Amino acid sequence: MNLTVVGTGYVGLVTGTCFSAMGNNVTCIDIDKNKIENLKKGNIPIFEPGLERMVSKNVNNNCLHFSTELKDGLANAEIVFIAVGTPMGEDGSADLRYVLGVAKQLGQEMLKPLIVVDKSTVPVGTGDKVKAVIQEELEKRELNIDFHVVSNPEFLKEGAAVQDFMKPDRIVIGADSDEAFDIMKDLYSPFTHNHDRIITMDIRSAEMTKYVANAMLATKISFMNEVANICELVDADVNQVRIGIGSDSRIGYSFIYPGSGYGGSCFPKDVKALQKIAEENGYKASLISSVEKVNDRQKMIIANKVIKRFGDDLNGRTFALWGLAFKPGTDDMREAPAIYIIKELVKRGAKIRAYDPKAMEESQTYYLKDIKEITYFNSKYETLLNVDAMLLLTEWKEFRSPDFVELKSQMKTPVIFDGRNQYSNLKLEKKGFEYYQIGKK
Ligand SMILES: NC(=O)c1ccc[n+]([C@@H]2O[C@H](COP(=O)([O-])OP(=O)(O)OC[C@H]3O[C@@H](n4cnc5c(N)ncnc54)[C@H](O)[C@@H]3O)[C@@H](O)[C@H]2O)c1
Repeated sequence: MNLTVVGTGYVGLVTGTCFSAMGNNVTCIDIDKNKIENLKKGNIPIFEPGLERMVSKNVNNNCLHFSTELKDGLANAEIVFIAVGTPMGEDGSADLRYVLGVAKQLGQEMLKPLIVVDKSTVPVGTGDKVKAVIQEELEKRELNIDFHVVSNPEFLKEGAAVQDFMKPDRIVIGADSDEAFDIMKDLYSPFTHNHDRIITMDIRSAEMTKYVANAMLATKISFMNEVANICELVDADVNQVRIGIGSDSRIGYSFIYPGSGYGGSCFPKDVKALQKIAEENGYKASLISSVEKVNDRQKMIIANKVIKRFGDDLNGRTFALWGLAFKPGTDDMREAPAIYIIKELVKRGAKIRAYDPKAMEESQTYYLKDIKEITYFNSKYETLLNVDAMLLLTEWKEFRSPDFVELKSQMKTPVIFDGRNQYSNLKLEKKGFEYYQIGKK
């Protein structure tokens, strides 16, 4: 099929690339000229395992194209995916300006029947808005072109995005016509070879499904973080509690690790947007708003432990920091706990020596670009020279079993604050470290 994907970010680039890998002819569009120029040269703007190789293979096969002009994608397209950002607006609701902007442009430029698929995460009712905007533009052009709007929320995880897209747990398709369902099912059939994973529903339910999935996962995280904080107070071992409850098949082991709170581009804004959707419809979503409050507090737990150990005034203190990305496998730092922790420590006079396998450029260029007190190093061990303590913040595999003799020989004082959501069994106290974890005194 001929497909166009509008918005070539994490979701759009992975979507376009994976569809092209199945033999479709895909054009990815973005308004960011720099991004498109780089993609044309084979430079991938994000780090995502396996993506770079797949992009270059499909570009070479002439199945994957990049452009800044929607017109280039519309010439042959049967299906257009909207995969632009839906950031948090000032009032906490999802900002739909990019989605509706694309809808308007589609109405102004489409030349033949089209399936318009909303892949961005959008509030309930957005499908109707997209339809109305396209229709309005077609009427201005005095054209009557058949089109269908579909909701097809994306569930990929950054760090495993290609794998998730190629082998999805489920594919949710919300539509209001058999024609749209049939075309979408054909498109996705190569991804559901061994058993059917397509779940069809109405558009509003599909839109809601995405928010509810993210809110449920965020709730599990905040719940376990709250439990960890209580365990710390009563001297219970939260890791043993985790194993004790996870063994109940109704609870399960996944997503119940305590840590420094959730970050990333999705959970924070989607939890907020769901509260807003409820509020706009006259309902106060108390549980969901508490999930957010617990998370805001959790991001500061490691900073608070540092302050408790070294005092309010951190002038003259230097900390090594391993891990800037909000989770391993990505260079994405959106809403990463590291941002909040670093800002708090620096505000109190500390200096930071940081290392991350993938996110240092993001940090320097965008998220912490104004913070002069950070020095970045290309090797994790270099960060340790004469530091008062080291902070472990992202669960990168290369941080799991470092050389502790080297660590200790470099550090001024052997103090480690571990904010990762994995418990280390390394018995660091026995290796002569002062070791602080989430959920432990
Ligand atoms: N990142 C994730 O893990 C993830 C997972 C599932 C769903 N989502 C959702 O998917 C959507 C996209 O997320 P993302 O992380 O890929 O965003 P992103 O910010 O990485 O990418 C969005 C892209 O859209 C482009 N864009 C904006 N307006 C445009 C226009 N008019 N025409 C062409 N391009 C335009 C931007 O330049 C940017 O490159 C969001 O709604 C998000 O909530 C994201």
